[in-house]
Amino acid sequence: MNILVTGGAGYIGSHTLIELIASGHSVVVVDNLCNSSKIAINRVEKITGTSIPFYETDIRDKEALNIILDKHQINCCIHFAGLKAVGESVSHPHEYYDNNITGTLTLIGALREHGIKNIIFSSSATVYGEPQVIPVTEDCPKGICTNPYGWTKWMIEQMLIDLHTADPTYNVVLLRYFNPIGAHESGLIGENPNGIPNNLMPYITQVAVGKRDKLHIFGNDYDTPDGTGVRDYIHVVDLAKGHVKALNAIQSNCGVEVYNLGTGKGYSVLDIVKAFERVNDVKIPYVIDDRRPGDIATCYSDPSKAWTALGWKAEYGIEEMCRDSWNWQRQNPDGYG
Ligand code: NAD
Ligand code: WQD
Repeated sequence: MNILVTGGAGYIGSHTLIELIASGHSVVVVDNLCNSSKIAINRVEKITGTSIPFYETDIRDKEALNIILDKHQINCCIHFAGLKAVGESVSHPHEYYDNNITGTLTLIGALREHGIKNIIFSSSATVYGEPQVIPVTEDCPKGICTNPYGWTKWMIEQMLIDLHTADPTYNVVLLRYFNPIGAHESGLIGENPNGIPNNLMPYITQVAVGKRDKLHIFGNDYDTPDGTGVRDYIHVVDLAKGHVKALNAIQSNCGVEVYNLGTGKGYSVLDIVKAFERVNDVKIPYVIDDRRPGDIATCYSDPSKAWTALGWKAEYGIEEMCRDSWNWQRQNPDGYG
């Protein structure tokens, strides 16, 4: 298939390009580079030996999207583009709703005008809010989100479901990611946060590389085995492969489907710190701080639906996730510079 990949220069998008190309698909990338670098695309070209059509374009720019869609015969859109920093979404809600919601509406408008009705969307476990059941199945009701970022995912899911209700020839796959970490084994691409990392693994790798003194662990008094928060960390390459499997579902006219992409295993913050130290033989000094507002104690997936329906399951374990995160950071202490 010929796939339009929005946000393809970003962390998950760039890894997905590799898997799409390896599976024989063609890609066209649209990204405004607001949280990424063109270097990521150059490196994907190096890894795959393929030239990638790239447009530095905002998905809110319908005219530009129309020109791209006139030029390329697109069969499906994988929609990664969006702002994703939880705390920033609380302080800048307008920017988040505008970028994520207006952006998606503009994109699907342009796709519709070109007869493109196949969409795979990057959703998030955040739509479950405080999950009612653990492990979280796709049947678990969507919850109350604690921040505007989460609501944008919640609302975009609903918008895409409504499109299919109105026109059942739409095929929509909503992929709810758990906690992606790791990097491509080459160490050429990886997660490249701006400023102080919000997420655990990039913070740990920046401590390991000497950019930060110590990790701040947000609370050790949760109702978990060691008191620190438990999450479902998934290797970004496994996550990327999930998108290729989702394309198979699209090709067989799946209608609307929702899948959790996680490993089904929960690891605490201290588990991750210890695994990182063991696998990479580096020390991660840490202090225990107060809980972070909005955090929950435990969240991990039941990923069995993706296995049964798509034949997808995560293959990498926590060791590979820690190894590859460090391999990327060590080789690229300043990310893409
Ligand atoms: P990322 O920031 O690395 O990638 C997002 C990309 O979208 C960036 O390259 C950015 O420049 C681009 N972008 C943002 N707004 C745009 C716009 N208006 N027009 C064009 N391009 C735009 O983030 P990521 O971690 O790769 O996440 C990809 C998607 O997956 C996002 O939608 C994110 O919300 C979702 N997601 C991420 C996680 C995670 O923990 N990383 C978890 C669940 C869901
Ligand atoms: C993991 C654990 C923290 C940083 C977020 C978003 C979610 C999704 C993935 C996009 C928690 C602890 C963290 C640190 C710490 N993104 N921690 N010190 O919160 O599960 O999910 O990213 O959709 O929407 O909310 O991930 O990596 O921030 O935190 O102790 O410096 O690590 O408290 O227990 P989270 P995270």
